[in-house]
Amino acid sequence: QQGPAFDVNAMTLTRWVLHQQRTAPTATGDLTQLLNSIQTAVKAIQSAVRKAGIAKLHGISGDTNVQGEQVKKLDVLSNDLFINMLKSSFTACMLVSEENPTVIQVESDKRGKYVVCFDPLDGSSNIDCLVSVGSIFSIFKKKSAGDPVEADALQPGNELVAAGYALYGSATMMVLSLGKGKGVNGFMYDPSIGEFILTDPNMRIPEKGNIYSINEGYAAEWEAGLKQYIEDKKNPKTGKAYGARYVGSMVADVHRTIKYGGIFMYPATKSAPNGKLRLLYECNPMSFIVTEAGGVASNGKIPILDIIPTGIHQRAPCYLGSKKDVEELLSYLNN
Ligand code: AHM
Ligand code: MG
Repeated sequence: QQGPAFDVNAMTLTRWVLHQQRTAPTATGDLTQLLNSIQTAVKAIQSAVRKAGIAKLHGISGDTNVQGEQVKKLDVLSNDLFINMLKSSFTACMLVSEENPTVIQVESDKRGKYVVCFDPLDGSSNIDCLVSVGSIFSIFKKKSAGDPVEADALQPGNELVAAGYALYGSATMMVLSLGKGKGVNGFMYDPSIGEFILTDPNMRIPEKGNIYSINEGYAAEWEAGLKQYIEDKKNPKTGKAYGARYVGSMVADVHRTIKYGGIFMYPATKSAPNGKLRLLYECNPMSFIVTEAGGVASNGKIPILDIIPTGIHQRAPCYLGSKKDVEELLSYLNN
């Protein structure tokens, strides 16, 4: 006897989020609507990333666009999708995007209570060579009274209402946390029905792994403690040597770290004392997810989520992953 061929009662992301809302006594449904708008943006981005419709754009035989016009760059398209979907959800008042130098104010007749920070398509160096890329987002409640101001986005990560990412990898996956203590859930995209399905409920990061992930090309610029840590991870005399993995797309590197364990690092260097990754829409949401999954995220001195931001595009060094691995690294760093 074979099992049913078709799940007629699948737990989709939409259904799951709605369930969380309906079982929370004070929820208004705004966050549900907001997450649905992000989900729509992600579906469209994954379709573009996977080149759906490319034949139409390039013409069946030739290599020129049939209209003779330039195809919109993927990062620009992703940013436009995030902005348009969020604005039209009537749930956000202000947006911060990696792609926009200043905050984006939502028109007053469309405003809601949330502030959303996002990196619409992270991993720019991997876009054109078809290696995994991702989208990252974090959601705050507006704190000030009156019109939204930039300070509403400058809240520490500990205040996040929700955070998540989408990974456009060998499959598309959305990973989400709906707040402190609420854990992490993962949803795999099923293209045959166009829905995200709950495949990874209550994700937990292994307490210790055996993979380190860092751009070792910059080793000459590292502080001595970090150099020593990586040397020791490669030295069988100090324990079994770790494997090295580095995609160069934060979402892919962090997702692997959550699934398999280990440590991901984008450190401070001599020429970039705050590293490269942006606090509001890269470090914070990824740290929130990792922390909720039982891991640790630090800037080398304090938890990433404790940092009080001073600018919307500020950077922070980022060390995150399995609890034991990050704690071991921190014991090497000279604070
Ligand atoms: P981007 O926002 O321009 O895509 O840069 C962010 C990316 C991260 O996804 C990744 O972790 C990092 O840059 C890799 O940087 P590097 O090439 O310096 O190792
Ligand atoms: Mg980025």
